[in-house]
Amino acid sequence: MSPELLLAFDDEWPLAEALAAALALPLQRIERHRFPDGESKLKLPAALPARVALLRGLQDPNSKLVELLIAAPAARALGAQELLLVSPYLAYMRQDMAFTPGEAVSQRHIAALLASQVDALVTIDPHLHRIASLDEVMPGCRSRALTAAFALGAWVAARVPQALLLGPDEEALQWVAQAGQAQGLDHAVCRKQRFGDRDVRVALPAVPLAGRAVVLMDDVASTGRTLIEAASACLAAGAATVDVAVTHALFIGDALAQLRACGVREVWSSDAVPHSTAVIPVAPLLAEAIRQL
Ligand code: R5P
Repeated sequence: MSPELLLAFDDEWPLAEALAAALALPLQRIERHRFPDGESKLKLPAALPARVALLRGLQDPNSKLVELLIAAPAARALGAQELLLVSPYLAYMRQDMAFTPGEAVSQRHIAALLASQVDALVTIDPHLHRIASLDEVMPGCRSRALTAAFALGAWVAARVPQALLLGPDEEALQWVAQAGQAQGLDHAVCRKQRFGDRDVRVALPAVPLAGRAVVLMDDVASTGRTLIEAASACLAAGAATVDVAVTHALFIGDALAQLRACGVREVWSSDAVPHSTAVIPVAPLLAEAIRQL
């Protein structure tokens, strides 16, 4: 599918402009109004071409999902016949099994809901841990799950010579291994146990950390507790410096301040999610994938 137009919301405008430029596409805005009772009204361009790309990351997931569920059928009603969702951050992907009886497997249900609305999806580092591909949960929708690991690795390699790329949990092995191999950097992962939203314990791997420049790499930072625990353990083990590179900087509440307070030097993220730490551009990655769809 080669889209003829990119539609985007105001809160993702810098990425929208970069992506539209990379694809040489016209860019138009979806206007939003929030009513006093919390409902949203959307206004799209009055006439749309047949093939439309819609940029909507799902950070702040519940309100953005509702906007998406209004915008997608509205785009079809206004002329779009093929709809590509570009969702750099795909929410609800971490709840990928029923950890206790009765728990909804949100990943499966949200992915199926999105698949019912769009023809194709491009996303970045969507936390596929217990499934190998989004195809398993998005029937009838062409999907591409990209990774920012190589871009993060290149950014780190240019700034931290001889860095040890450390994943704060075993699920991060895929990202530190890809980035480490591409850049010729050492990599390892910690072991993590989560007891609650903000109750996380991290055990360091059996590699010497004294005097090392450690860069913690992960797909998403939410409460920041995973990174805080890992960074504190690294510094206690004698690491010379600890920096952080993540794809999706959610950093809820004061998570970023707490991360800096525990002794972390630099925090870098991709601009998949708009954030003050976002320095690593993903538009080239997204554009290349969209061209190949
Ligand atoms: C889960 O395994 C993810 O890769 C992240 O490590 C996790 O979601 C981070 O969450 P938080 O920042 O709340 O510890």
